[in-house]
Amino acid sequence: MSKNILLLPGDGIGSEIVDEAVKVLDALNDKMNLGVSYEKGLMGGCSIDAHGLPLTDETIAKAKASDGILLGAVGGPKWDTLDRAIRPEKGLLKIRAELDLFSNLRPAILYPQLADASSLKKELVEGLDILIVRELTGGIYFGEPRGVRVLDNGERQGYNTLVYSESEIERIGRNAFEIAQKRGKRLCSVEKANVLEVSGLWREVMESIAPDYPDVELSHMYVDNAAMQLVRAPKQFDVIVTGNLFGDILSDCAAMLTGSIGMLPSASLNADGLGMYEPVHGSAPDIAGQGIANPLATILSLEMLLRYSLGMSEAADAIAKAVGDVLDQGLRTADIDSAGMTKVSTSEMGDAVVKALLS
Ligand code: IPM
Ligand code: MG
Repeated sequence: MSKNILLLPGDGIGSEIVDEAVKVLDALNDKMNLGVSYEKGLMGGCSIDAHGLPLTDETIAKAKASDGILLGAVGGPKWDTLDRAIRPEKGLLKIRAELDLFSNLRPAILYPQLADASSLKKELVEGLDILIVRELTGGIYFGEPRGVRVLDNGERQGYNTLVYSESEIERIGRNAFEIAQKRGKRLCSVEKANVLEVSGLWREVMESIAPDYPDVELSHMYVDNAAMQLVRAPKQFDVIVTGNLFGDILSDCAAMLTGSIGMLPSASLNADGLGMYEPVHGSAPDIAGQGIANPLATILSLEMLLRYSLGMSEAADAIAKAVGDVLDQGLRTADIDSAGMTKVSTSEMGDAVVKALLS
């Protein structure tokens, strides 16, 4: 059966980088007869401009009917002053909730060709391969009550609620254990159980399901310590599982360890395997339209989409190899450029990946 992908280029550099992933998909369709079709949709600031809303019912319906979603990035200063309820970021949160994309996989892998790009010493990050499993549809991002209220003394008070039910913790916990079984078999659960009740429950639930995964070594770490350990000795980690907010923060930190956030893809999956795939980096409005953004994280997001949602591992392997090849050739976009390398534009990088695929 033929498969259909929904492309959501979004804002900023989004359309430039998604265009390069489409080139790669076109080339694979030709070469391997994948039969993957695609259509475009609007989400984020571009949707606000067109429809007054960051995510319309039409885009949600298209996403639900698709076999996988490839997202560029959303947001930019143009929409930062809008009411919070209709900002681009709300579109992202809404599509995560609507499709129940509870499991967010954020790898932080150091490419050997880019070992010098990290801000940490080479020996600390060489061979780094961490996977952060971030709970994506619960926690303080979605907890009620939330808002800004006026106190009796007339002062305003902002409030949000950090909530996790046992079933939500168990769902992401089991997911992370299963992933750890397929990797290095070490799972570190990160919370703040020394202060927060919700974290105490998180730890209890993780402990209670651990016996079902006897081959995985479970450890627990407070989030402040985890932040420190990530920059002190990051190679101690294999899989990290954590809640929505802690995962947001730690995944940025982990991505930066590789020195090349422009290289990292991510996946957000629901229980049925439907997924939204996007680069870890944002919409980078400061460099939008200049043709200098790195398209490799988006191309690698397409790789994950083919692998995890469409079951096309041969095509996915071909993309991974082609990306390795262009790095070996010394081609670098500005964000990962260094002495002695060949600096290329966004579209030159995309073309080089296509060429490597076809060779
Ligand atoms: C991310 C982003 C989003 C988040 C924002 C844009 C809503 O930072 O995907 O990490 O906080 O989840
Ligand atoms: Mg973030």
